[in-house]
Amino acid sequence: MKLYLGLISTVLLFSSCGNKVTSDYNIVSDNFDFSANQLKYAFTEIDSAKMNLTERQIENKVFAPRNIQPDGSLRLVASKDWCSGFFPGELWYMYEYTGDDFWKEKAIEFTAPVEQEKTNGGTHDMGFKVYCSFGNGYRLTGDSTYRDIMLESASTLITRYKENVGCIRSWDHNKDKWQCPVIIDNMMNLELLFWASKESGDSIYRNIAVNHALTTMKNHFRDDYSSYHVVDYDTVTGDVLHKHTHQGYAHESAWSRGQAWGLYGYTMCYRETGREEFLNQAKEIAGYIFNNPSLPEDLVPYWDYNAPAIPDEPRDVSAATVTACALYELSMYDKENAIVHKANADKILENLTKNYRAQLNSDRGFLLLHSVGSGNSNSEVDVPIIYADYYFLEALLKKEKLEKEGTAIL
Ligand code: GLY
Repeated sequence: MKLYLGLISTVLLFSSCGNKVTSDYNIVSDNFDFSANQLKYAFTEIDSAKMNLTERQIENKVFAPRNIQPDGSLRLVASKDWCSGFFPGELWYMYEYTGDDFWKEKAIEFTAPVEQEKTNGGTHDMGFKVYCSFGNGYRLTGDSTYRDIMLESASTLITRYKENVGCIRSWDHNKDKWQCPVIIDNMMNLELLFWASKESGDSIYRNIAVNHALTTMKNHFRDDYSSYHVVDYDTVTGDVLHKHTHQGYAHESAWSRGQAWGLYGYTMCYRETGREEFLNQAKEIAGYIFNNPSLPEDLVPYWDYNAPAIPDEPRDVSAATVTACALYELSMYDKENAIVHKANADKILENLTKNYRAQLNSDRGFLLLHSVGSGNSNSEVDVPIIYADYYFLEALLKKEKLEKEGTAIL
């Protein structure tokens, strides 16, 4: 793997409100201070949005912020939405950083509605929903009711495992197009399964997670270690039927967030298994991202590495925050390139803080601007999206832990 050494830059220290260079500036505390104020503002925005719900939204019990809509309003989603766990997760990260019971109480309040997902076997998104909310809550409180909910969620998730394919089926939609679609994002849901095996002593979850990661490694990646978004399998033979995109620019393009999910996923799989092939995969994915001529100087990628009008294409801040999380942890395992990974993650956080942060008491309470949900269908383009914020706080926590304790594992 060749890492782009030119990207290592001197760490610039800057104040959040200007260009003043100051040696006592702490990017982690600055962002958590900002987030404390901005998330308090978000609660008022959530309350306001709840005054204008349709009957359908009330029936669906929408509660969690997802993004800003084209008309400028705040979109709240129900627990079944794949993004329902991120806002509660952010509140747990606030509690983790501050130790303030205010955030714990808010986190408990926003985590509770996600519980009903524990029996929802209709999608692969269980990890995003339950691990980010209840998972962080259990890690920080040890509440055994959270543990039970998580174990039930893991049991539900593995009902989607297809033995003949060696993967967990991601989606049930577009049945006319795909038989057993598996998306690269699904790597993120494996963390719940590794946790479930450790917690229950039952190896079934872990075995499924490992099989899924191995099958994905075999079929999702091109020779240059870029990843397809969707691989569709024949449920009976396990053969690959299609290699597609759904949210990226084209079937043969590299959708930016997908590369970030893969990097995070294989880094996490290495932590959980110690299997060298997973570490190697993560290193190669990092190599693809950071050697990519389309990656801008500030390391915040365009929404797709092959988007046709680069440099006049929207960035995807969420891909950058997921990447930063992965790099802090990868720097622990890939000793040879540790300094580069850490410097790149730091540079991402610095640039996000300087140039992509939302306005305090504005932007509906989101932390970061400029993410893209699905450029392919012109949905959630160049707007704040909740998972960018969640992984931003996670990356900040990981940075602090790595620097203070030598580990980026929360
Ligand atoms: N998991 C869906 C996405 O990354 O947009």
